[in-house]
Amino acid sequence: MTSKMASKEKRTVLVTGGCGFIGSNFVRLLLAERPHWSIINLDLLTYAGNPENLADVAENPQYRFVQGDIADPALVRKLLAEEVWAVVNFAAETHVDRSILDSGEFVRTNVLGTEKLLAAALAAKVPRFLQVSTDEVYGSLGERGAFSEEDVLAPSSPYAASKAAADLLALTFCKTFGVTALVTRSSNNYGPYQFPEKVIPLFITNALADQPLPLYGDGLNVRDWLYVEDNCRAILRVLEQAQAGSIYNVGGGHEMTNLALTELLLDALGKPRSLIRFVPDRLGHDRRYSLNCRRVFRELGWQPLVGFQGGLERTIHWYVENRSWWERVRSGSFRSYYRTQYGDRLAEGKGLETGSGKPAEAEPRQPEDRRADG
Ligand code: NAD
Ligand code: TYD
Repeated sequence: MTSKMASKEKRTVLVTGGCGFIGSNFVRLLLAERPHWSIINLDLLTYAGNPENLADVAENPQYRFVQGDIADPALVRKLLAEEVWAVVNFAAETHVDRSILDSGEFVRTNVLGTEKLLAAALAAKVPRFLQVSTDEVYGSLGERGAFSEEDVLAPSSPYAASKAAADLLALTFCKTFGVTALVTRSSNNYGPYQFPEKVIPLFITNALADQPLPLYGDGLNVRDWLYVEDNCRAILRVLEQAQAGSIYNVGGGHEMTNLALTELLLDALGKPRSLIRFVPDRLGHDRRYSLNCRRVFRELGWQPLVGFQGGLERTIHWYVENRSWWERVRSGSFRSYYRTQYGDRLAEGKGLETGSGKPAEAEPRQPEDRRADG
């Protein structure tokens, strides 16, 4: 079915984790592009979930928010009884550093929660289930190569392991029970409403507050950056057009080192590079992520529309204009997390002149070059 025809149909979609970063951008995109659809947003409102992220659409009659847990079968069963056409599962614990501090909640939500959601979708015969996975399930690359969808999963962090388990559970529910499960594995997203524990919003907000930017290790780890709206468009395309059991890599095609990214952010904000602190590395820190996205290009005709420069400008502008949003988010429990995560690190940190190119007490695992076909 073409997406034009689908756009006229009335459908109900259960979006989980819709009060988080990507989920809230996705809900907004659906309300704009599929105005006949009804959206139920099931979100537990953990520290990362914020109803303010969707305040502008809260009164839309096509949108409904339900506070609750994806791991609560009775609640999920009740919601799925409303003739839900699709589940899009964004709900997760999502921060690698927090999973290193304590992995329990990652297993509970990401693995058990996804399993319960899949079981409920199977029982209710929901026609489609899209699991939002990540490029981190593949593990780390060296300087060359890119992961394709057939590559072996080799996660490095408890976060990535829990996402790999959820990803595989979705695919096995397809093979074993016939659930029309679909999986997207995207690269690092950036854009408005991202919780300021992740590197781009953390560094923007620290710089705006004239606080140091803690760069892990030698700052030369590489990430591929994807503007959040582009990812949301890819997810919608996969949801409407993909075959049961299919997996799609979704990348921004813009790789850069963390150091280059940090310098770009500081320059754009007009802040000095002396704010950079090289701090002891993240444990198990993946050196590089890169995705081969030929499948989503060829089969679904998706392409990222937002260039990195433009996307970063929009993102910076959003954080500059929404200072009260991030000041609220950075108060309360975020402060104690920040002390635990960065207190000792910043005490050991070095500035750009002394630190550049040298890990500050890093013990990085040697990254393997897992694929070399680029
Ligand atoms: P986020 O941390 O901003 O939001 C997660 C949301 O899930 C929050 O609103 C939270 O309240 C909710 N949630 C957590 N546990 C829940 C539970 N048990 N029941 C219901 N809701 C619960 O995350 P994000 O960055 O928007 O990521 C969304 C999804 O995309 C995640 O599955 C993540 O693994 C995946 N992903 C993210 C990125 C990225 O760069 N941010 C990249 C690839 C994949
Ligand atoms: P992050 O935003 O946590 O995303 P992910 O771990 O999912 O890639 O981190 C992106 C990169 O930035 C990663 O290489 C780790 C690095 N980083 C820092 O150098 N300092 C920080 O304070 C954070 C949060 C991340």
